[in-house]
Amino acid sequence: MNISATAILFSGGESEPQLTEVSVRAPRAGEVLVRMTAAGVCHSDLHVLNGDWPFDHRVALGHEGAGIVEAVGEGVDLVPGDQVVLSWYAPCGRCDACVDGKSWLCAESGAITNGLPDGSTPLSVADGEEARPYLGVAAFSEYTLVPRSAVVKIPSEVPSAVAALIGCSIATGIGAVLNTADVRAGQTAVVVGAGGVGQAIVLGLKLAGASRIIAVDLSDDRLEIARQLGATDTVRGDDPEAVARVRALAGGAGVDFAFDAIGVPKVTEGMPAYVKSGGAIVLVGMPARDAEAVIKPWQLIVTGQRILGCNYGSSRPQVDFVKIARLYLAGQLPLDQMVGETIPQSRAVEAVRALVQPVGKRRVVDFAL
Ligand SMILES: NC(=O)c1ccc[n+]([C@@H]2O[C@H](COP(=O)([O-])OP(=O)(O)OC[C@H]3O[C@@H](n4cnc5c(N)ncnc54)[C@H](O)[C@@H]3O)[C@@H](O)[C@H]2O)c1
Ligand SMILES: [Zn+2]
Ligand SMILES: [Zn+2]
Repeated sequence: MNISATAILFSGGESEPQLTEVSVRAPRAGEVLVRMTAAGVCHSDLHVLNGDWPFDHRVALGHEGAGIVEAVGEGVDLVPGDQVVLSWYAPCGRCDACVDGKSWLCAESGAITNGLPDGSTPLSVADGEEARPYLGVAAFSEYTLVPRSAVVKIPSEVPSAVAALIGCSIATGIGAVLNTADVRAGQTAVVVGAGGVGQAIVLGLKLAGASRIIAVDLSDDRLEIARQLGATDTVRGDDPEAVARVRALAGGAGVDFAFDAIGVPKVTEGMPAYVKSGGAIVLVGMPARDAEAVIKPWQLIVTGQRILGCNYGSSRPQVDFVKIARLYLAGQLPLDQMVGETIPQSRAVEAVRALVQPVGKRRVVDFAL
């Protein structure tokens, strides 16, 4: 039986996203129907609204979420009532990258076309026009239908708001540190951009035992939050001496790792200046799809610096989300400290747009409000 749910549909361009009644079809073999409990407000939704990442179809927004299993199709090893985190890069499980254990590089993920693995959409709308789940998950909808590979079961003790953030900013930030960069105890890092993703990188660096964690942002409020989460130092990004300050704090030669958690090409171009010879720049923040940034090959060659791309924290969600949840429950990762104001679904769009004035912690839609 189909189920009715409100979703936030966006048709692109200058149009305004609309809270709209959609019909979500029942799960078939290998699929899961999820009743959403919480969804975080991530900058990757703003990239869609502001036209950085245009689509030729209408999308149901939201991609950082968690919920409770409502129903499952044949052959699914979950039961109604299980708490699950949505994973927005559901891997195909068959391509070379998947077989190689690098599901974040899957070339066949339905997330790329905002759909299910077979390319279809589980949503239908009374106006007859197509609506596709953003990144295959449509996390701002009351109910969502996804393949089994797009949900990760985590313990019910994890609060829903924390579970939701594990689905994007937390997995990306912690994974950027532990998986992509493989930071070791005692190493030094700068985190440029202290939004939700940057804050999770700070938490990851603290967990990894980094000796110096320097946060850079244009917002004093965000720098204060970074400090509360474990940044040892903060530097304003508009300080003309920012690079010199960061290098000095790291002992003069530069940091071992510089994380770009913004996605602005000018900032990306400035990242190598923070890094010592042999160190690495980790690109996590994402720019407009066709953006370009200038690199200086000679400088990279003589310094032996590396530039590492980081999609979804180089995570294998079925393993890494569970590991993160366990670290949280063991008191080793204070993820509650990332959760900001909780808001009803009707305020989600306003909260996405508000990301351009960066203050506070991550806003989270609470579907019970
Ligand atoms: N690689 C991935 O898999 C992945 C996953 C999630 C999000 N992202 C991307 O990461 C980026 C950050 O997402 P978020 O949700 O944390 O965003 P956010 O809006 O919460 O935070 C961005 C922060 O950058 C700061 N900032 C902006 N311009 C700056 C500058 N010039 N100098 C210093 N600080 C500056 C802002 O003040 C803000 O605090 C986005 O581009 C998002 O799309 C990537
Ligand atoms: Zn996100
Ligand atoms: Zn694959």
